[in-house]
Amino acid sequence: MSNVPGPPDEPAGPRDGRAQTLAGSITLDSVREEDLPTLCQWMNNIDDLHLWTTRRRPIIYEDLESDIRRRCRTGLFTVIRDTKTREVLGFLDGTLRERHGIAEFEVYVPDTRRLRRGLWGIYRFVSHLFASYPLRKVYCQTYAYNHNVVRLLEASGFVKEGSFKDFTWWRDRYWDMFAYSLERETLEAIQRGEGRIGRLRKLMTDSGRFSDYTMDRG
Ligand SMILES: CC(C)(COP(=O)(O)OP(=O)(O)OC[C@H]1O[C@@H](n2cnc3c(N)ncnc32)[C@H](O)[C@@H]1OP(=O)(O)O)[C@@H](O)C(=O)NCCC(=O)NCCS
Repeated sequence: MSNVPGPPDEPAGPRDGRAQTLAGSITLDSVREEDLPTLCQWMNNIDDLHLWTTRRRPIIYEDLESDIRRRCRTGLFTVIRDTKTREVLGFLDGTLRERHGIAEFEVYVPDTRRLRRGLWGIYRFVSHLFASYPLRKVYCQTYAYNHNVVRLLEASGFVKEGSFKDFTWWRDRYWDMFAYSLERETLEAIQRGEGRIGRLRKLMTDSGRFSDYTMDRG
């Protein structure tokens, strides 16, 4: 019986072979000057704002750029990049609360084609955080209507720890916000090959396409 929560155990299927190629093709990287227009465009996309922020209005690009620069200096802002083309595919951002042994993060992959960019982006980001800081657990909060992220977090081994009732307004009513967490012990179990994500990771590390701590600094 696995200690890693997640979707029901399934044997590796055709998508997993495809995922082997895909996981090798993303890398986590720092923001470059040329990424800023794309990042600002994503962060101002009013169709997506409700998915990841309580902000409901666009901001002028100059302010967004300085916000991103500030996040890079003081936070954990990291881009998900295509290893070959260097194109930016998404981003992760978060805050460390070292004194409490926790970190919080959010993830954004706008071209959502279920290519496991979110999954491996989170896995690498979280592995990097646990390897670099004395953290007990990592949190990700999401709104109850954001089913994709709920599924993504559950597929990544996160468990729902609690919820904030009627936290945000969207469309016609208030919605809860869920707090998901992943503990250090769960990550270690994944790294031992437990759960669906542990088996996928093992498939890929065994074939040499994946390394847990690859943080390409370019
Ligand atoms: C949520 C998001 C990051 C998913 O990115 P993605 O790269 O498409 O997701 P992945 O391919 O890595 O999905 C991994 C797993 O999550 C689950 N999942 C993700 N998207 C899903 C969807 N649309 N439907 C069903 N399951 C989904 C599946 O279990 C999937 O594994 P599988 O394909 O092997 O079954 C992306 O949709 C996004 O950025 N949305 C907008 C921003 C946002 O909501 N951010 C959250 C703020 S915390």
